[in-house]
Amino acid sequence: MQILGIETSCDETAVAIVNDKSQVLANLVYSQIKQHQDYGGVVPEVAARAHLSILPGLIKAALRQSGLKAKDLSAVAATAGPGLIGGLIVGSMMAKGMALGLNIPYLGINHLEGHALTARLSDEALFPYLLLLVSGGHTELILVRGVGDYQKLGGTIDDAAGECLDKSARALGLAFPGGPDIEKQALGGNKKAFQLPRPLMDESCDFSFSGLKTAAARLAKTIDPIQVKDVCASLQEAIKDVLMAKVENAFKIYLSEKPTSPRLVVAGGVAANKVFRDGLEMLCQKYKIAFSAPPIELCTDNAVMIAWAGIERLRLGHQDKLDVAPRPRWPLQELNAIGNE
Ligand code: KG4
Ligand code: ZN
Repeated sequence: MQILGIETSCDETAVAIVNDKSQVLANLVYSQIKQHQDYGGVVPEVAARAHLSILPGLIKAALRQSGLKAKDLSAVAATAGPGLIGGLIVGSMMAKGMALGLNIPYLGINHLEGHALTARLSDEALFPYLLLLVSGGHTELILVRGVGDYQKLGGTIDDAAGECLDKSARALGLAFPGGPDIEKQALGGNKKAFQLPRPLMDESCDFSFSGLKTAAARLAKTIDPIQVKDVCASLQEAIKDVLMAKVENAFKIYLSEKPTSPRLVVAGGVAANKVFRDGLEMLCQKYKIAFSAPPIELCTDNAVMIAWAGIERLRLGHQDKLDVAPRPRWPLQELNAIGNE
């Protein structure tokens, strides 16, 4: 079984082909960062038009990379939400057209489910595992019980961690997206230079980052350029502390269920950060929990995760009808469980 996956929910146009032996036969990501950089954020209309012009060539290139012909595909999967609706329509329509033309199944994949199931491809993670999903749009702690079976333990009540990084970076005059640049700057900075707030440090698994974002932006106005790296290091440390405290809260709930093979999985672009990974890995060692941080190219947005979620679903006998509409908002908890092997 080999599935072609399409990801167009934000500003990456991505196509991949994955088989049911966990082999990645093609993995192409076209980042639109340059098109959006001048605006300091993703412009939905610009993104949708770029997906439209890039996607057909990328699909041909992915087939070439895999050595397969379109007729060899078992199914086509595309991100059907959540995300920017223009891009979702472009990807979904392409996938549906291919499925119809090739007379093979179509799968409309939830982007968050893609992130959630990636560790099964990269690390053969067994259910149930705990997922920390940290990206530009999401910061959530989720108990992954099976395919389609997700229990949200907590999430952000305002901004995502990635948004906090991106907006702080903008205030500091750094490049978009801010995460990678903040990590680089922080390497040479003093993490104790500024005492930034650690919001919502309670027993819950919920997060709040807007106060930290505002504090960092305010600080940015008062400092010398030479202190930018110190702000970056202090901000990174504050976010690390919050992530670790919240994951520790979630461990208590998760471990009370006595999982047979306990594991923490991190996913999303922010999980590319080495300081965050190292902190969470230490926490896992303390609790004797396995730690999975998929390779960075599978943490940030990609189509391997969409094709893989398609494999997981199709092998459980699931497929979608061609009249399924893309959804800009689509919480994971609205999916239905289809298997937990
Ligand atoms: O998952 P992703 O690629 O896109 C979605 O939001 O779905 O995540 C993008 C986010 C951005 O906020 C970016 O600043 C952040 O991930 N990011 C990082 C790093 N690389 C990307 N944050 C911290 N450290 C990094 N190395
Ligand atoms: Zn994502």
